[in-house]
Amino acid sequence: MSIFLDSSRLAEIEKYHRMGIIRGVTTNPTIMLKDGVTGGMKGIAERSKGIARIVNPLPVSVEVISNHPDEMITQAETFASWADNINVKITIHGPQGELANIEVVHELETKRDIRVNVTAMMSAQQCFLAAMAGATYVSIFGGRVNNMGYDACGEIRNLRKVLDQTQLDSKIIVGSTREVLNVIQWIEAGAHIVTVTPNLLKGMIVHPYSKDTVQMFLRDGAEIAAMVTAGEKDI
Ligand code: E4P
Repeated sequence: MSIFLDSSRLAEIEKYHRMGIIRGVTTNPTIMLKDGVTGGMKGIAERSKGIARIVNPLPVSVEVISNHPDEMITQAETFASWADNINVKITIHGPQGELANIEVVHELETKRDIRVNVTAMMSAQQCFLAAMAGATYVSIFGGRVNNMGYDACGEIRNLRKVLDQTQLDSKIIVGSTREVLNVIQWIEAGAHIVTVTPNLLKGMIVHPYSKDTVQMFLRDGAEIAAMVTAGEKDI
């Protein structure tokens, strides 16, 4: 069970990686755009290589930006060539429900030795089929599942049970994290990995009452230190 960082911001990735509390990084085109990646494929390459270098040998997911089967395969091969720890994100199907994506996943994993993270999934059944196709990671979007009125915990629980029963090796990544509470909830429900934004990760660490307590310790410590200084002066 572990935590990945859902970000392409190099400074944030470096900061949390140095703390030793993340075990990988996930990105997608929306995250990269928001995080200021520009310059076409060259820009994606630079940012992805930068992330991969920082967290090496931890895994980094980079998503293809086409839904044409041949282009997905070409992009996947290019991304995988950037660094050994880069795996490729492929959506479960196309924008209109096109089915070719699963075949691409199967080909990349079984014929081209490329690790795939199947993404944009909202149900245990989608993830199960992605796992059957050979995906190394299956990503279910917990926050979006809850937003649609379904129970992400239930989907995660069912999925973990089915993967364990069928002895499929795919690791469940739960993304689309909306609240600090989700992280422990989803790990408890059976996620192998929850991927969180830098803000939520900070929210897991910083607690207002811990702040008060630390302030109290430092205040009282300073008072003791001041007494010692005064005592030393007296001597
Ligand atoms: C997961 O891998 C995705 O990058 C991400 O968590 C999607 O989250 P969103 O629903 O906030 O877009």
